Amino acid sequence: MKLLTSTQLGKLHPRNRVVMAPMTRNRADAAGVVGELTVQYYLQRATAGLIITEATNVSAEAKGYPMTPGIWTAEQVEAWKKVTSAVHAAGGLMVMQLWHTGRVGHSDVRDGNLPLAPSAVGIQGQQHFTPTGLKNYEVPRAMTTDEVRATVDDYQRGARNAMAAGFDGVELHGAFGYLPHQFLVDSANQRTDTYGGSIENRARFVLEIMERLVRVWGEGRVGIRLSPTLAYNGMVDSNPLATFSYLIEKLNSLPLAYLHLMRATPDAERFPTWPRDTIATFGPLFRGALIVNSAFDRDSAEAAVTSGAAQAVSFGAPFISNPDLVRRLELGVPLTPADRQTFYQGGATGYVDYPAPHADAPAAAKGYWVVQATVTEPAQFGKYTAVAGPLIASFGGRVLARGDVSQVVEGSVPRRPYLIEFPNYGTARACFESPGYQAAIALRAGAAHFDIVVVEGTTA
Ligand SMILES: Cc1cc2nc3c(=O)[nH]c(=O)nc-3n(C[C@H](O)[C@H](O)[C@H](O)COP(=O)(O)O)c2cc1C
Repeated sequence: MKLLTSTQLGKLHPRNRVVMAPMTRNRADAAGVVGELTVQYYLQRATAGLIITEATNVSAEAKGYPMTPGIWTAEQVEAWKKVTSAVHAAGGLMVMQLWHTGRVGHSDVRDGNLPLAPSAVGIQGQQHFTPTGLKNYEVPRAMTTDEVRATVDDYQRGARNAMAAGFDGVELHGAFGYLPHQFLVDSANQRTDTYGGSIENRARFVLEIMERLVRVWGEGRVGIRLSPTLAYNGMVDSNPLATFSYLIEKLNSLPLAYLHLMRATPDAERFPTWPRDTIATFGPLFRGALIVNSAFDRDSAEAAVTSGAAQAVSFGAPFISNPDLVRRLELGVPLTPADRQTFYQGGATGYVDYPAPHADAPAAAKGYWVVQATVTEPAQFGKYTAVAGPLIASFGGRVLARGDVSQVVEGSVPRRPYLIEFPNYGTARACFESPGYQAAIALRAGAAHFDIVVVEGTTA
């Protein structure tokens, strides 16, 4: 299958054309810091040619939903490093989707502050997800010109931080009705400064951000996601053909990695003048690589890449419920349906517990172990060596490998919970695993030896 062959997206070289679409999962903490479960979640899906992270807030101001991650503090960067190093150790590639929600937020999740937007135009006929249930949208506060410029700076900082966190590139979330999209469409942008009015002015915000992202990342590592024919979140433009043709033409002057284009959803039929086939209309306008998305299955995805319409296809919901999606597409076996109830609810259920019976055993066994340990002995030693015992690697209840492998980890006294990483299973010397994901590890400091209880371990 062509879908399973390697390709090139600018300077990114995915090993297959199956991309994991960005998906908000609301599993970060209140400070926007991702945790151990998020490391596991992405690691389980690292066989994707490219992973695009869930949308990630570029500033506190950008936040519109509870428990969504950020990339503006040092703590957030440190937490993302664990994700990228796990995915890289498993041979994957990963870019961060940069997010500002604009008017798609609520003061309830913004410390009482109204959402910001190009203009004081609220979303009608939809409600917003808040910690205390669904609420009507408020009328946002229009950003001043200085605030618009400061927001462009925030995206640039997000790009720099994403680089520090070890990502392979960044994608601007320019789709789905969030801030960049709000600037583009004329119903949401009624500004009279240089960021509103003509198409040229409405596209300025997006183009300024893209130039900054390229300034940080250089050639071939910045992508953009667009949904020219998606009316969701009140994204009604009087002429999407003109608006997005102009934008894409301008994007061609930047050395981008890819354009990530979303197909129309059925609600676009309400707008008879809008282009019906988004990919056929806008795809050929872009001179670089194209990732296409929305409701693709095995056959339509294969057709999209064999026809040359796109270099790669991204899958959203199927990747949530099929961590082994790439292998399932290869084998042509049925996919597990995703449980919508657990999309945004937090916790491990519906996040890291979908079975992966087709995970490639040898590759998985060579994967990257992430073991979270809680020390049960007083850790009075400044330096320790972690040695694990005989290993049984299992995944999704299946034993993948047994062996006498070991890993010596040097570090300072662990705090709890402490993350011990086994980047290369093959060189590990000793490790003990009990059924499921439970494991136990011994720590040795000099001549002294004490056991610690390990809470969780997993491998890709
Ligand atoms: C739970 C969930 C969260 C999503 N969050 C995002 C997001 O953060 N950023 C984004 O660009 N799209 C987001 N999307 C849209 C997906 O990236 C994708 O476009 C959509 O699921 C359609 O693809 P599919 O038919 O393969 O699922 C989300 C979709 C789902 C199901």
